[in-house]
Amino acid sequence: MNLNNDIKKILVTEEQIKARCKELAEEINKDYADKKPILLSLLRGSIPFVAELSKYITIPIQFDYMKASSYHGGTTSSGNVAVTILPSYKLEGRHVIVVEDIVDTGFTLSTVMKILAESKPASLEIATLLDKPAMRKVTDLSIKYIGFSIEPEFVVGYGLDYDELYRQLPYVGVLKEEIYKK
Ligand code: PRP
Repeated sequence: MNLNNDIKKILVTEEQIKARCKELAEEINKDYADKKPILLSLLRGSIPFVAELSKYITIPIQFDYMKASSYHGGTTSSGNVAVTILPSYKLEGRHVIVVEDIVDTGFTLSTVMKILAESKPASLEIATLLDKPAMRKVTDLSIKYIGFSIEPEFVVGYGLDYDELYRQLPYVGVLKEEIYKK
């Protein structure tokens, strides 16, 4: 069994992701010089992205984590967002960059941003590897750092799952339809 065989096409290669992470990190280095931001990653999907992005960030940063879920194993967002792990650090007065793998309807981040705003951070921005603007259902989301804008196709890899699998693939790919229509 090889998960790569379930992929119909590769949408974003490992090399493209690496190059884009370097560019985004350069922007963060400039925008947050002397600010020691917290990279607040949303579990589980953002881990490969934050790992790659942070390699090229040269200013002091801290890592924190939060867990929010909306897909519940399917291929479409439910809009029903459950926040089950909250950040460990005190965020008041801190510069926070929320790191996501994908923004789809925006329900997840919209919920997360409202919760985080209550902690009164000095600034609160979003970095996402992927954006699917055609799928957006919320209007109150402003995303500062976007890796790639993609068409509304269901994608896996680089942290993104189908039924909790495929997250370890080193690229973003489109799953063969027979896999999720079984
Ligand atoms: C996925 C993804 C985003 C969210 C995006 O998370 O990681 O957090 O859905 O969808 P939305 O913009 O429509 O809300 P999921 O709930 O699958 O949890 P995961 O990170 O554990 O995969």
